[in-house]
Formats: sequence, structure tokens, C-alpha cells
Amino acid sequence: MVLGGHAPPQGIEIRLMRKNGERFDALLIEAPLIDSEGRHIGWMGSMVDVTEQKNAQELARQQQERLQATARLVTMGEMASTLAHELNQPLAAISSYNTGCINMIGSGDMSPRELTGILEKIGKQAQRAGQIIRRVHAFVRRSEPKCEPVDLNAILREAVGLVEPDAERRGVNIQLNLAEALPPVAADPVMIEQVAINLIRNGMDAMANIPRAGRDLLLVTRLQDDMLILSVADRGKGIPPDVAEKLFAPFFTTKEEGMGMGLNICRSIAELHRGRLSFEDNPGGGTIFHFSIPVLT
Ligand SMILES: Nc1ncnc2c1ncn2[C@@H]1O[C@H](COP(=O)(O)OP(=O)(O)O)[C@@H](O)[C@H]1O
Ligand SMILES: [Mg+2]
Repeated sequence: MVLGGHAPPQGIEIRLMRKNGERFDALLIEAPLIDSEGRHIGWMGSMVDVTEQKNAQELARQQQERLQATARLVTMGEMASTLAHELNQPLAAISSYNTGCINMIGSGDMSPRELTGILEKIGKQAQRAGQIIRRVHAFVRRSEPKCEPVDLNAILREAVGLVEPDAERRGVNIQLNLAEALPPVAADPVMIEQVAINLIRNGMDAMANIPRAGRDLLLVTRLQDDMLILSVADRGKGIPPDVAEKLFAPFFTTKEEGMGMGLNICRSIAELHRGRLSFEDNPGGGTIFHFSIPVLT
């Protein structure tokens, strides 16, 4: 390679053996020696032991891998608890429709038409449960986050569709104020949906103890400079300073059944997309979370 002039300028990596049989990685750099008249009069070679650099690289790679594995486990833990939560709704509905059917049959007071209607509802709920599971399945199978042009408003509408039954049950009124014709962002749609759902759920949780009539959750999207911003504003209890400090720490929760991973994961997802997650007091009570993500250029 060297004689033919094809040697890479950054050197050639080779594995060599010392006299004692020990092997090590080296970088071999060869350059022609040219005298003042431009004649090629010989070669200059240098050899560098790169064992340490290699070890450091390998270590960094392993650390990165472990980090990703941990992040995945944590995300899956969160997914599992979300899944349990989401599946509970269609299953509870199926169970109560089923009880209704049994009661009807028992009382002898039933028309086939009525019964068919209820059985159809049971089928719909079962399909919904199946959809929820397929979403998780698609998520788990994929090892790399996707990066595709994504319509933030569309994702948000879908997220709202998913939490709607929950919101109704809790008496939360979700309002959307979405900027029109937003440019796309480069993102993983499932992850962005997860951020939206987490922030919405937190907002609903925060309003659990205020009068039903005031449980308004406002979702806003807008374009600011080169970022799209999703804001989730609740009218809940707000965030006291001692809680604010630990808000994003893994496993920090003030809820009895909380896992404390939601905001930590949301922030990781924001950073993965070169965006940010922040919050501020909502003037007049409650909290606003802002999730920003750069537009696709
Ligand atoms: N919108 C909000 N209003 C008030 N407190 C909040 C809000 N969002 C999050 N928090 C606080 O941050 C904590 C951590 O949230 P999170 O990471 O989502 O975990 P979890 O919801 O499982 O508790 C919550 O337990 C709560 O105390
Ligand atoms: Mg949460």
C-alpha cells in the first residue's frame, strides 16, 4: 500500500507481537523522505502503541451501550405501567358489559337486538385493547429510535384521543389551541406521543383535588424561532420549590401510585431530539410544561 501510494494518511492499524509473545495494537505511519531537489531518497516510518486509546474507545462504547440498555429498561418499565393503566379501561368496560348481558339473560328480559348491541360494544373494547398492545409491541421490537418527519399537531390529537376516556372519567376538560400549518419536526413519533401523554397525565393528576368545574387542561402548539413548542397548562396545585428541585430526578414522585419516571423520560426524549423540557407557574394557578423540538430544516 505504501509503495503504491495508497496508504491512508492517518496511518495503518495493525496488530503486532512483542518478543515475549504479547500482542498489541499499533498505528503504523510511513512517509516518503524527499530531499531538497525533490528526489525520493528513502522512507520515514513511525509506530505508535495505541493500546490505551483502543481500551478507552472500547470502554466508552460499552458505557454507551449500558446507558442505552438502562434507558430502555426504564422506558419499558414506564411503558408497562402505562400499559396496565390503559388496558384497564377497555377491560373494565368489557367486564361491566358482560355483567349486563348475564343479568339480562338471567331475568329472561332480553331481545336479541339489545344483546347484539352490547356484544358489539364488547368487541370494540377488545379491539381497542389489542391496539394498545400492538403499539407496545411495535415499540419494544425496535431498538433504535426512529427519526422521520413528524406532524406535531397530528401526534398531539392522537395522544388526546388515547387519554380522552380517562379525562372524561376524571372530569378534566381538555382544550386544544394548535397553530396551523406548522413545519414538520424530525422525530420518533411514538416517543413524542409518550411525552404528550405523560405531560397530560401529570396535568390531570395535579387537578384531582380541585373542584370539577375548574379542571381545565390547555394544550398549545406554536412556532418560535426554529423550534416547535408544545405547552401543557393545568390549573392544579402548582409545584412548590422543594418539589421543583427534584422534579426530573428518576423515581421522584409525590403520588401514592406514582413511578416517578415520567418527567425523567420526557426530558431524555427532549434531549435526544435536541429540544428542551421546562416548566413555569401558570398565572392564576397551576403549572405549564413546555416541550420544545427543533423544526426540520
Ligand atoms: N403538572 C404538574 N403539577 C404539579 N406537580 C407535578 C406536575 N407534573 C409533575 N409534577 C410532580 O412531579 C412528580 C414527578 O412526575 P413524574 O416524573 O411524571 O412521575 P409520577 O407522575 O409517576 O409521579 C410528580 O409526582 C409530581 O409531584
Ligand atoms: Mg407522571
